[in-house]
Amino acid sequence: MLGLGFVGTATAANLARCRKKGRALYFVIGLERDDAAGAAKARALEKGRPPAFANDPSLAEVVRRASLEQGNLCASLDPRVIGLADIVVTCINLDLVREPGQTEKLDVPLEGYASAMRTIGAQARAGTLVCVESTLPVGACDRVLYPALCEGVRAAGRDPEKERPLLAYCYERVMPGPGYLDSVNHFHRTYAGIDEASSDAALSFLSQIVDTKNFPLFRHKNTRAAEMGKLLENAYRATNIAFIDEWSRLAEQAGVDLFDIVRSIRVRKGTHDNMMLPGLGVGGYCLTKDALLAVWGAERLLGLDAPMPFSRAAILINERMPLRVLDMARERFGESLAGRRCALIGVTYRPDVADTRSSPSETLAHALIRAGATVVAWDPLVSEWPEAPHVKLCKSAKAALTGADLVVLCLPDRKAAEKVLAALPRGPREGALVVDAWNMIADRAACELDERGIGTRVYGRGDVYGSDESD
Ligand SMILES: NC(=O)c1ccc[n+]([C@@H]2O[C@H](COP(=O)([O-])OP(=O)(O)OC[C@H]3O[C@@H](n4cnc5c(N)ncnc54)[C@H](O)[C@@H]3O)[C@@H](O)[C@H]2O)c1
Repeated sequence: MLGLGFVGTATAANLARCRKKGRALYFVIGLERDDAAGAAKARALEKGRPPAFANDPSLAEVVRRASLEQGNLCASLDPRVIGLADIVVTCINLDLVREPGQTEKLDVPLEGYASAMRTIGAQARAGTLVCVESTLPVGACDRVLYPALCEGVRAAGRDPEKERPLLAYCYERVMPGPGYLDSVNHFHRTYAGIDEASSDAALSFLSQIVDTKNFPLFRHKNTRAAEMGKLLENAYRATNIAFIDEWSRLAEQAGVDLFDIVRSIRVRKGTHDNMMLPGLGVGGYCLTKDALLAVWGAERLLGLDAPMPFSRAAILINERMPLRVLDMARERFGESLAGRRCALIGVTYRPDVADTRSSPSETLAHALIRAGATVVAWDPLVSEWPEAPHVKLCKSAKAALTGADLVVLCLPDRKAAEKVLAALPRGPREGALVVDAWNMIADRAACELDERGIGTRVYGRGDVYGSDESD
């Protein structure tokens, strides 16, 4: 298992818990990069702890049991362990590098992945299946990864024509949150091989590790189709979220409640039931990049023209969504936010998730700091926020709210919202503004806050008592 990050940890744990006739099916070695971060992850696994936190107790329990009791899960930093494997699963990161606010200049440092493939090719025994689970640009497997794998075989003095390496692509669909581990094997998976032999090998591997009775596998015609499947899936969701933003603004201006309106439309099952509700924005490692991986791959790997205006616009709209808080704050406090204390309630991109990468709260925090504000934050699952080092993380909602000029409910988290509600009457300063990006507390709090001179704004609602429109 290459890569013990958020996805690799859950995938390794799932492999380690697979059993047949009462016996463990696999001996799993998690291979990490030989650097400080990789070594820390390997050490955690060796001690029976998941190297990446997930708010799913079953993950910790499976890792503990497999590492410390069954003895079929361990970690290494030495790529020679690849030579022991029948199957190599890769779950390493592939980043998209871009300055915010544009989708023209993109970079995907694919060389890191190619280098990993060369190492695998050089170390793996003939007949080993290489199963890539990371999200890839279209064309990556046939244009870059497979040639690199063959290069590795050649570098080891063998002939990839005579012993054709087996390479399959079967992307992950893990869902971060309390059901994290089960989402690896209790969900539909798709796959494709670089050739028929690879597809067949992937089929027999996935059939062992996925509950295929309830979640049948889908075989794509080639790796490009599987690569595009994952990207389309995430671009579709990102676009769906972006679409509602202009309606949120309209609802706010028109004095109506878009949450109610969407609920009234969602009853049309099959055509309208996945219409999104308003919200602060989109975050996480995947939805913020995957549509653009398709653009980059089409242009750079396949030499195609890829205007893809919907997908590009979705990324930009989602990125700007949290910045609407600044407009609301400026309407209330004037252009300068210098000296204002802002409290962000929620740091990650989803409730019950500790992954802080690319969250809308991060975008908002940076923008508020640039505007001169002091930002504090509270999130029940986060004690460090490496992406926003200038934000002070508070130990409680109450501590974050005390003395705040601006309070933003950044996550649709019911438990956190209750704590905020409890602390609101005494927390923020008179004249403060509360922005409820997910319609969590407004109905219960707006009236009371209004009596104290505190304003309330809700994404997608123009009907809230105490909001600037209805004043
Ligand atoms: N996070 C999700 O919910 C999710 C869901 C589905 C798919 N994915 C995809 O899965 C892939 C992994 O995502 P993640 O969130 O686990 O990333 P991550 O950054 O948490 O983990 C990647 C790990 O790979 C390690 N690594 C990098 N290069 C390596 C190498 N050459 N050898 C060994 N280890 C190496 C890194 O040190 C890191 O620990 C990405 O392509 C992502 O898009 C993620």
